Amino acid sequence: MSLLELTEVTRSVRLPDERMLHILQGVTLTVGAGEHVAVVGRSGTGKSTLLNILGLLDAPTTGEYLLEGVPIARLSNRARTRRRGRDFGFVFQQFNLLPGRTALENVTAPLLYAGGRQFWSRRRLAAEMLTRVGLGDRLDTMPEKLSGGEQQRVAIARALVRGPRVILADEPTGALDVETGGEVMDLLDEIASQTGAALVTITHDLAVAARAERQYRLADGVLVPIRLDRDSDWVGDVPTLVADRSAMTERRLPTGTGLGADLGADQGADLGADLDQDLDQDGARA
Ligand SMILES: Nc1ncnc2c1ncn2[C@@H]1O[C@H](COP(=O)(O)OP(=O)(O)OP(=O)(O)O)[C@@H](O)[C@H]1O
Ligand SMILES: [Mg+2]
Repeated sequence: MSLLELTEVTRSVRLPDERMLHILQGVTLTVGAGEHVAVVGRSGTGKSTLLNILGLLDAPTTGEYLLEGVPIARLSNRARTRRRGRDFGFVFQQFNLLPGRTALENVTAPLLYAGGRQFWSRRRLAAEMLTRVGLGDRLDTMPEKLSGGEQQRVAIARALVRGPRVILADEPTGALDVETGGEVMDLLDEIASQTGAALVTITHDLAVAARAERQYRLADGVLVPIRLDRDSDWVGDVPTLVADRSAMTERRLPTGTGLGADLGADQGADLGADLDQDLDQDGARA
């Protein structure tokens, strides 16, 4: 049984003018315990929507989501909230730390909702986690006095302090320079591996995505497996979308071909242009 299992999940919202916006159009994804998965895609393609569904912050319109084999739709709101707090840790682009609260108070916050030992040991657990992310000497510092990279490390400590089974990171390096972003990802990978947590990272940065064991690309609400190596060149079986997006099918390249090399000219150019845009955004960030 997989830890997370989405089958044909859609998410649609009604716009103010009554039109329906179909954000996710049949997403199937499984994530096993301890796996590291990355999702890339242009702005507005539904990445955060997907992550919010995985983290029980949003619900599919249709399709099924099983969390450890349990259909989420059958849980009460209360059970869902409990599982969200216990099983998931969130890391966001803008850190989302509580202002006016020290680093220690920020990391203690999730433990206020925990039961038993975690609740009673919350200050010690939070201090240990901050030490683990290299901020043991900044416990009483306010977030606004910390650098971006340090704030993201506090956020990682907060995400991990309850020992979640899944870490969901939405553009965790998006507000950081390349080097600091790399350090933050090192930390996230390392702690996730040590604690056996699964890690799902959403990113515009192909180098960040390449660190994961599996990569996907979200385009027009459809999730397509891709493969990136650590040097961020496309390798191996690179499935891509055919030009007719209504007929979304996968096409695979022979191992070792470069980007777009064996595709029809239109498809290659299409994929290349998307990738260029992703890279441009990445470049603009740094
Ligand atoms: N509740 C909502 N009501 C209306 N539109 C929504 C809602 N939630 C998401 N959208 C729209 O759905 C699309 C996907 O949004 P989402 O935030 O998932 O994109 P994203 O891939 O995370 O983009 P970015 O990379 O810019 O963060 C966007 O066009 C967004 O405006
Ligand atoms: Mg987003």
